[in-house]
Amino acid sequence: MKKLFFIPLFILLFTACSKEEEPPLIILTNEVATDKDKKKTVFTKPPKQMRHCTPCHNFKKEGKRKIGPNLYGIVGKKVGQAEGFRYSKAFAEGEWTWTRENIRLIISRSTGAATEVVKTLSGDPSAKTNMKFYGAGDSDAEIILDYLETLK
Ligand code: HEC
Repeated sequence: MKKLFFIPLFILLFTACSKEEEPPLIILTNEVATDKDKKKTVFTKPPKQMRHCTPCHNFKKEGKRKIGPNLYGIVGKKVGQAEGFRYSKAFAEGEWTWTRENIRLIISRSTGAATEVVKTLSGDPSAKTNMKFYGAGDSDAEIILDYLETLK
């Protein structure tokens, strides 16, 4: 009877000990995996989420403008620099850079429509943009941003 009592106790101790060791290992592998994934997002073709933008933007190198300017290599560029494109006053005279964060602001539904965000980016409450876009869902926006970062 006594021996039988020790068996579950041993199992309990064993699981308790191994549990203590596991979490740091798991966290470590997760972190490494996320980092790697972030840096190595490889697209063999444009993700389907780009359909939010392609009615108005061309993403090919030296591709023609549409209603909006060509956006090849836009990440890291200053606003309003596409040659020959007639921007709104807010974009033509804007001083901000299209960092990943700033692009997220104008394309993510949760931050508001592009028309509203441009007031924040320009610091001018009466600023208006010609980009009539009401935003993509958050997860779509992240995929679009990942893809934009590969266009260089
Ligand atoms: C309905 C048409 C339309 C859609 C859809 C649209 N845009 Fe635009 N976009 C424009 C127009 C027009 C401009 C120029 C705005 C201005 O001059 O005020 C613009 C400008 C931009 C700029 C600034 C470019 C520069 O040279 O400063 C970025 C970045 C941008 N759009 C990203 C996107 C992304 C990413 C998507 C998809 C998630 C998207 N847009 C969807 C019409 C659109």
